[in-house]
Amino acid sequence: MYQNMDLSSIRKEYRQRQLRKADLLHDPFEQFRLWLQEAIRAEEIEPNGMALATGSLSCRHVLLKAIDKGFVFFTNLNSRKAGQLEQNPAAAAAFWWRQLERQVTLEGYCEKVSPDIAAAYFSSRPRESRLAAWSSEKQSSPLTSRDALEERYQLYQNEFKNKEITLPPFWGGFRLIPHRIEFWQGRPNRLHDRFVYLKAEGGWTLERLYP
Ligand SMILES: Cc1cc2nc3c(=O)[nH]c(=O)nc-3n(C[C@H](O)[C@H](O)[C@H](O)COP(=O)(O)O)c2cc1C
Repeated sequence: MYQNMDLSSIRKEYRQRQLRKADLLHDPFEQFRLWLQEAIRAEEIEPNGMALATGSLSCRHVLLKAIDKGFVFFTNLNSRKAGQLEQNPAAAAAFWWRQLERQVTLEGYCEKVSPDIAAAYFSSRPRESRLAAWSSEKQSSPLTSRDALEERYQLYQNEFKNKEITLPPFWGGFRLIPHRIEFWQGRPNRLHDRFVYLKAEGGWTLERLYP
């Protein structure tokens, strides 16, 4: 039924913008903040969504929740990704902002954020999301049925009735500290603009790449 999808004819030309070396800020974190701000203004769906690759190799989306000396996301510390990061902290991430025809990719290493940072973010989440985190303690493990999950949600709803929902001991965050950050702007005829920042002693180098 779906065998006749013609993927080879799907083709989009990127015409909106260009990116010149002179447009790029000295600090790639500042450049990233600028593009993220523009993605938020352009009302991208999940402008802070990033595909995150870990291990050797798997990939999934998570949400960027802070930028400090790295790129911070939160997750279950029992999850597959957390297990992979424990074994090997190397990670990569990709943002795709389709309204702006832009991609940013990051490569680096992850470290765990402090429990204080995780607790501060956790307490800012809606009550329902906090209950969901408790209910999914075994994130990434087999689950017998949807009912079993909803029973756990109910259980924690009762347990935390009229109480503050505290940070689960199995929940926290990671900070991806990049040593490579690439900015990509789609251009007509697949002649895209690409620039890469590489971490060097005392700063970053910046160069243009073939598309
Ligand atoms: C747009 C989007 C955002 C997501 N954000 C998060 C997130 O911030 N943290 C998280 O643990 N999972 C998030 N997920 C779910 C993950 O993609 C994934 O299913 C889950 O974390 C388990 O991954 P793992 O088994 O590879 O560890 C998100 C999924 C989507 C589609």
